[in-house]
Amino acid sequence: MQNIVELLALIAVAAILAWSAVRTWHAETRAIKWGGAGLFGGLSASAASVATLMSIGMFEQHRRSAPVPDVKVSSTPEMLARGKGIADGLCGACHSHTGTLTGGYDLAVELQFPIGSFVAANLTTAGPLKHWSDGEIFRAIRNGIDADGRWLTMMSYIRAGRLSDDDIKAVIAYIRNVPAAGTPTPDPPDRMNVLGLVMLGAGMLPPAKPVITGHVSGPAKGPTAEFGEYILSYQDCRECHGEKLTGGIPGQLAPLGPDLNLVKDWTLAGFSAAMRTGIDPNGHQISEQMPWRSVGKMDDDELEAIYQYLTHMPSS
Ligand code: HEC
Ligand code: HEC
Repeated sequence: MQNIVELLALIAVAAILAWSAVRTWHAETRAIKWGGAGLFGGLSASAASVATLMSIGMFEQHRRSAPVPDVKVSSTPEMLARGKGIADGLCGACHSHTGTLTGGYDLAVELQFPIGSFVAANLTTAGPLKHWSDGEIFRAIRNGIDADGRWLTMMSYIRAGRLSDDDIKAVIAYIRNVPAAGTPTPDPPDRMNVLGLVMLGAGMLPPAKPVITGHVSGPAKGPTAEFGEYILSYQDCRECHGEKLTGGIPGQLAPLGPDLNLVKDWTLAGFSAAMRTGIDPNGHQISEQMPWRSVGKMDDDELEAIYQYLTHMPSS
């Protein structure tokens, strides 16, 4: 609603400027006639282009869609354990700033451009999920769309959708068991501002991950490079560290992470300690931009799997 008011205001400004240009064109003095009309005309054209890009952005915002899968999650102790592992090691980086999955953290502070506000939702039963079906939560994780069919911007940028069907079900089983806590978070959780919509309309925001409708499976869990590759398919290391993990590219929306080939000089123990304590083998304190607190919550097998993958990947 606020965006529509802003769009109407922009259109009004463009119209007033255009009208001023026409008025000045009728002025007696030559300088005022050409200078004034040129100035107002130029400003009017700029306001009109911003309004056009913003409308395209608002259109783009409503384009994402995917069917709600027909899933019913039962819960076993193994699923709850795996679900907790994924929630702590991945979801918690954004959803557990104020308490276990209580949400409330605005991701805007991490982005390189001020494009709006994106508050991680309260996923406990104190939040809206208690009214959602298992299929609706599944779709939110897999495809970044909420129960009302609205686009969940940040959820569609992250790679959690690559979690296997079984792992997503495990997360849902765990979420359903987390005790209610925290306060309700904004509904809808996203507020994209004019800059965000203009950038979206101009194609300057990163593309949302493609919608996946088929089944997704994963390898058996273990300290292997193969399982490490799977972890990196649903963790967001590449959003910050670059598609080939050789370092982020200036101008990307996510924080810039270094070339991960540096891990090849570390021992497994040094790597695990760095992820668990935030202090790397050189004594460097790793900044909070790197989600080491949640990555470090992965179990020994998972950290070793990542280590195996990173130390065996090609260098460039
Ligand atoms: C990079 C940060 C980040 C990570 C990691 C993350 N989320 Fe989110 N999540 C958000 C934000 C921000 C929102 C608010 C909507 C948006 O922008 O996507 C959200 C919204 C949601 C919603 C919609 C809730 C609602 O009320 O609309 C669900 C469900 C959800 N997340 C589940 C998860 C699960 C499960 C995981 C882990 C597998 C996870 N998220 C990982 C940031 C994150
Ligand atoms: C939100 C962005 C982001 C994500 C996601 C992310 N990192 Fe990082 N990472 C960073 C930044 C920024 C640094 C640099 C921090 C510093 O040196 O203080 C970093 C540093 C590192 C370092 C080197 C630390 C050092 O002391 O030199 C390692 C290793 C690392 N990340 C591994 C990973 C792995 C593995 C993943 C995925 C499981 C991951 N990162 C996900 C942003 C990210």
